[in-house]
Amino acid sequence: MADRFEPVLLDNDDTRLRRAWHPVGRSVDVGAEPFPARLLGTPLTLVRDGVVARAGHGREDEPHSPVRVVEGEAWGVQEIYGLVWVALEPPVAELPRIPEWFDPAYHSAVLTRTTTVGAGVLIDNFLDVTHFSYLHRQSFGRAKAVTDEGYSIIAKGDFVQLQHDTVLQEGRRQNNGEFGQRRIATYTYWPVYITHLQMYFPVDGDEAAATLVCQPESSDLTRAYVLVLIPRTDPGLDDQVRFSRQVLDEDLVIVERMADPRLCLSVRSELHTRADRAAVEMRRTLSDFLDACTVAQSTDAASAGASVPAAEVLA
Ligand SMILES: [Fe+2]
Repeated sequence: MADRFEPVLLDNDDTRLRRAWHPVGRSVDVGAEPFPARLLGTPLTLVRDGVVARAGHGREDEPHSPVRVVEGEAWGVQEIYGLVWVALEPPVAELPRIPEWFDPAYHSAVLTRTTTVGAGVLIDNFLDVTHFSYLHRQSFGRAKAVTDEGYSIIAKGDFVQLQHDTVLQEGRRQNNGEFGQRRIATYTYWPVYITHLQMYFPVDGDEAAATLVCQPESSDLTRAYVLVLIPRTDPGLDDQVRFSRQVLDEDLVIVERMADPRLCLSVRSELHTRADRAAVEMRRTLSDFLDACTVAQSTDAASAGASVPAAEVLA
């Protein structure tokens, strides 16, 4: 009998993930020249048929030259959120809707980084708000430890939402003269590796959003993308991209020190605290998603076997 505390680790190139959409590059980086990419250990080459790149932010129906996979086998390609996405096999779920992307009042940019850590670990880390005080002191950390105060979650089966109301940058004075900046954050996680963060600063009325999306390139390589979205009335897009890069780099410093780069899916093998409920629900949602992938793969395998009539096999 399997030990119930035996860790279940998710390989970064797990073949079940062939049943999901993954980013393989930024839209701005894919043009008429062959663009090499790797997904779940599968090498791919992509080419844009024409010169009009999908111009990043905006409407679903904007004109653009399509991207094709010219080397390597893929089921489909699509372009959205400033990224080119590939599914190696028919996906079990569509990509989620990022509202700010379709909001003409916003503009956006995508930054990217490569790391040796598994994509699941990056998502897990992004959902962890308790590390602000020790990991992000340089960027936005507060002096006091972040607890589960102001922390609530919703798990709806195919997504997990965390709302977190806290005070950051305690050493700085805000517009109303008080120290610190209150931030109401909503994190929404969808399988496989997408987490959208919406931020609202009630004292100034400012809003911003950032989406972390991960490309599991191979067993030991992940490309992380951060889609930075801010209102057009805010001219500081470049500053926000720089800030997001700094925050991501601070996260990578710590996750790259982990002994095992794989996400542990079993919730009983690790210690989870009350301020870590989103991470527990994320593991449950991701495990259900992986089960759906397994069912789809075995159903297809069974029907592929059944679709060849015995007479043809014998002939
Ligand atoms: Fe972080």
